[in-house]
Amino acid sequence: MTKPAFYITTPIYYPNDKLHIGHAYTTVAADALARYKRLRGFDVMYLTGTDEHGQKIQTRAQDAGKPVKQFLDEIIEWIQDLWARLDISNDDFIRTTEPRHTKVVEAIFERLIDQGDIYLGKYEGWYCTPDESFWSERELVDGKCPECGRDVQWVTEESYFFRMSKYVDRLLQYYEDHPDFIQPESRKNEMINNFIKPGLQDLCVSRTSFDWGIHVSRSPEHVVYVWLDALTNYITAIGYGSNDPALQEKFERYWPCDVHFVGKDIVRFHTIYWPIILMALGLPLPKKVYGHGHFLMKDGKMSKSKGNVIDPKLLIERYGSDAIRYFLLREVPFGQDGVFTPEGLVQRLNFDLANDLGNLIHRTAAMMNRFAGGKVPGPGKWEQVDQDLAALAEQTVLDVQEHMDEMQFSLALTDIWKLVRQGNKYIDETAPWSLNKRGESERLQTVLFIMVETVRFITVLVSPFLSKLPGQVAAQFHFEPEETTWDSLSRFGALKPGNAVDAGTPLFPRLDVNDEIAALETLTGVRKQSVPEESNSKNVQDKAVPSSVQEQTATQGKQEIGIDVFSQVELKVGQIEHAEKVEGADKLLKIQVNLGTEQRQIVSGIAKYYQPEQLAGQKVVVVTNLKPVKLRGVMSNGMLLAASEGDKLTLVTVPESMPNGAVVK
Ligand code: MSP
Repeated sequence: MTKPAFYITTPIYYPNDKLHIGHAYTTVAADALARYKRLRGFDVMYLTGTDEHGQKIQTRAQDAGKPVKQFLDEIIEWIQDLWARLDISNDDFIRTTEPRHTKVVEAIFERLIDQGDIYLGKYEGWYCTPDESFWSERELVDGKCPECGRDVQWVTEESYFFRMSKYVDRLLQYYEDHPDFIQPESRKNEMINNFIKPGLQDLCVSRTSFDWGIHVSRSPEHVVYVWLDALTNYITAIGYGSNDPALQEKFERYWPCDVHFVGKDIVRFHTIYWPIILMALGLPLPKKVYGHGHFLMKDGKMSKSKGNVIDPKLLIERYGSDAIRYFLLREVPFGQDGVFTPEGLVQRLNFDLANDLGNLIHRTAAMMNRFAGGKVPGPGKWEQVDQDLAALAEQTVLDVQEHMDEMQFSLALTDIWKLVRQGNKYIDETAPWSLNKRGESERLQTVLFIMVETVRFITVLVSPFLSKLPGQVAAQFHFEPEETTWDSLSRFGALKPGNAVDAGTPLFPRLDVNDEIAALETLTGVRKQSVPEESNSKNVQDKAVPSSVQEQTATQGKQEIGIDVFSQVELKVGQIEHAEKVEGADKLLKIQVNLGTEQRQIVSGIAKYYQPEQLAGQKVVVVTNLKPVKLRGVMSNGMLLAASEGDKLTLVTVPESMPNGAVVK
């Protein structure tokens, strides 16, 4: 049976400079989806590439004192090396300077002139060279490009125009008939309100003031507007316009595209101009355009001039590609903006990869060797705790599938990490070392079997996201190929006993937070957030214990304050990912909270009111700008709000729909 096709693309990047961590973000996200779809039995076509024409590239090459082609080749080599280091599994890489592309663009342009969609006129207006986009006087913001805020130039030249206006009604109808075409939903409203409702102008589609581009055959002084040239890559790469029957078949197979992944700044080109070009060519439109958010720095956008650009190769070299792939996909909900901080990176690596995942795998392999001679034993009778873990594992597969179908990578990873944490908890609770000591060998065998089965489930579940770990773990645990397919996850317990398990070494090192942040600061040039020293003052410590526990009298008796004082308190929505008891402290729980752009550890005095496992998943309100303190030797960075009355206490929660990191005011 032929596999169903799935075609996914990233934007083609401008090779005017090396790429940064933001570009890597899109490519890693598309890679995770491509790997996931392959695991689910699809015939995937994953395309990325480079957008090599236009004024910006020509100017950059001139500034570098190099012939344009040489300038491009050097950067493209760097980009392809980046994708190799990140284990990007693209099936093709298109360069818009390749003849397979240029020839087809020339032909398309001629055809569109012949059929009257493109006509000759004169352009007078503004142009933003870094974004390669045209703007009218009305659209400028304070005289600058409304997209990137940079200077624009006045352009007056003879140009070809595309009759966009002719297709507007059909486009709006398409939006209406295909409610999932633009994701997230909010971006669709932005397109309609900002660009379509004010009246869609015909688009200028050629330039005559420079010559680095595809020339219009009938009037070669015109070069094709770089966006028309670039967008067309999505069809030229898979054979559109080719005479070769094999390529024609390829085009039939993969078009229309299942999803274009694009940053929010270029949604406009992909959801207005691109569909209209396709309509004019009589081709079906893409099924979905997903406009994701941007990775920002604390001081805003990443930019060379601010000197805050993060080179992904430096991070990969230091932490490995799996760590960076995980961080990018976990840190920010796809669709929203997120802030890159060294603290956020180190915390993810320490908590999620070393403490949770690495630990689970290492403990399991070590105990298998200590207590079972390194061979997976056959299980005996299953107890409730075993059934519960099995049920969670099977449910996790369904949850991950649902979130992957919605392209919610961080949520899919959150699902997996619930299982990882539960796997660790299972080991703590069943205590194989005690079973061994007490000689309960049948129970020990069951527990060890379930531990390895949990590792197997997790290995397969993380394989769209992490590219190296699944192979390493499969080799260490000697999983059979049929034990690492997605379908093999349909039943927890399907693992064959008898496999050898090598003891191995921890897969992710635990990092020293302060040393690492300092190293990252030097490596990336990004300044660190100050982490205060441990406070010895009883007063300060008391203040950091949840006010709900300590200050039960609410406002009674407290001094009146003005809004200025209140507004100094920063409150945000956070989601509890994990909670555990603080050793030796009856009242305290150590809680990991996801604040959208960062992960926080908060020690809270609510152990009397909540069991740790009741808390995972709850959306709570966090005071985020409290001075960090150590409580019973454990760092606490923030406070949870709770309502209390007599001996009752309830955390203040917000609905699931509110995103992590949303400000509470
Ligand atoms: N060449 C065009 C795309 C043509 S597609 C037919 C282009 N190139 S770009 O190199 O400037 O940007 C490529 C992609 O990277 C865009 O989707 C953009 O949103 C994304 N990003 C640029 N900076 C980013 C972050 N800081 N964070 C996340 N994505 C980032 O536009």
